[in-house]
Amino acid sequence: MTDTSQSTLDPLTARRASTARRTGGARAVPAPSPRGRLDVERIRADFPILAQQVHGHPLVYLDNAASAQKPRAVIDAVAAFDATDYANIHRGVHALSQRATAAFEASRDRVQQFLHAADRKEIIFTRGTTESINLVAQSYARTALNLGDEIVISAMEHHSNIVPWQMVCRERGAVLRVIPMNDDGELLLDAYEKLLGPHTRLVAVVHVSNALGTINPVRQLIELAHRRGIPVLVDGAQAVPHLPVDVQALDCDFYAFSAHKLYGPSGVGVLYGKAALLDAMPPYQGGGEMISAVTFEKTFYKGLPGKFEAGTPNITGVVGLGAAIDYVQGVGLDAIGAHEDELLRYATAQLQAIPGLRIIGTAQHKAGVASFVIDEIHPHDIGTILDREGIAVRAGHHCAQPVMQRFEIPATTRASFAFYNTPAEVDALVAGIHKVREVFA
Ligand SMILES: Cc1ncc(COP(=O)(O)O)c(C=O)c1O
Repeated sequence: MTDTSQSTLDPLTARRASTARRTGGARAVPAPSPRGRLDVERIRADFPILAQQVHGHPLVYLDNAASAQKPRAVIDAVAAFDATDYANIHRGVHALSQRATAAFEASRDRVQQFLHAADRKEIIFTRGTTESINLVAQSYARTALNLGDEIVISAMEHHSNIVPWQMVCRERGAVLRVIPMNDDGELLLDAYEKLLGPHTRLVAVVHVSNALGTINPVRQLIELAHRRGIPVLVDGAQAVPHLPVDVQALDCDFYAFSAHKLYGPSGVGVLYGKAALLDAMPPYQGGGEMISAVTFEKTFYKGLPGKFEAGTPNITGVVGLGAAIDYVQGVGLDAIGAHEDELLRYATAQLQAIPGLRIIGTAQHKAGVASFVIDEIHPHDIGTILDREGIAVRAGHHCAQPVMQRFEIPATTRASFAFYNTPAEVDALVAGIHKVREVFA
């Protein structure tokens, strides 16, 4: 294992470094044709934030897995709602409250249709994927788990699909079991089947890995669990921006995602759950909005979805999520997926041609993420030098420290793609990496 745990770059040295030895990007495969399925230049015009210079260079935004940028349609929808319709929802008889409630509930309909859920009451608004998973951990798992029971997760989970289960397992005397993965970052299905046993109470697995880009065969994972009567939660935070998701076709029991990775606002997300499960679960939080009647002796809760939406929600954020779904569906997830696949293939070939660069996560089925390490160069140094070139990538463990441990690395540099990214931006990334290598030559 290479010890690259200490940052070695002196930023002044980096700035002074000669660019004379720049070699430019290797051309292992041709750049995707500009006649692609998407009119990316037109799409880019919808995203005002992209048209700026950073450190004197055009912004190349490749940190979409952390948060995607917002189209004008979302920015305008949110501003218009706040300017004309905003009020607290559900409880007002006045016109603004009714308009705000209608806009909020229209977003629930959009999410239902987006995920192809059977019923709108199966859509719970939360603060994001993290809160959605905590809701299931505290409401479903806490009541389902007994001493010696097990929850199965995978080796490539984001911390938000690890820590909530650890917390509830510790409280209930239950055990966390982990599906291993191979060196390409693919889950080992034989080992998974062996983990499923009479004590397994839940499987919680990521649909698309944020650290590796792996698209997991969740339909198959769910079927194998269901054969044994085990429910499955899918962390869809990185999946919904890249591929169409049909919760009925998947037959998942819970599905979680965040609006801010889907070109919408931060601080809002969704938990989908099958109505029969949600109906049987106790509320996650108590407070206003989630009750039908309260006395000091007893409280009667609302039915779904209100039972799980205590307090005033992120009303404007939910409206923004509805606008983001409209926008994404207007572009079309099939076209988005095809464009991003081409970009990822092109980027992978270019990156693999760089001496000393190793891609972490080489699964056969991947979406949107190119994570890599370069001999002896710390990812934070790579990220810092790329930033000076106007290129935004993420450097670190990506809230998936067990993935780093599995690959025996402290961190990676991660470029993550959206449908507004272009082959020219991949070229800029590759040229930037050559610059990094010169600095450290
Ligand atoms: C796979 C995955 N799960 C969960 C999360 C947590 O999402 P949020 O911070 O929006 O709750 C992320 C965020 O990066 C993620 O990539």
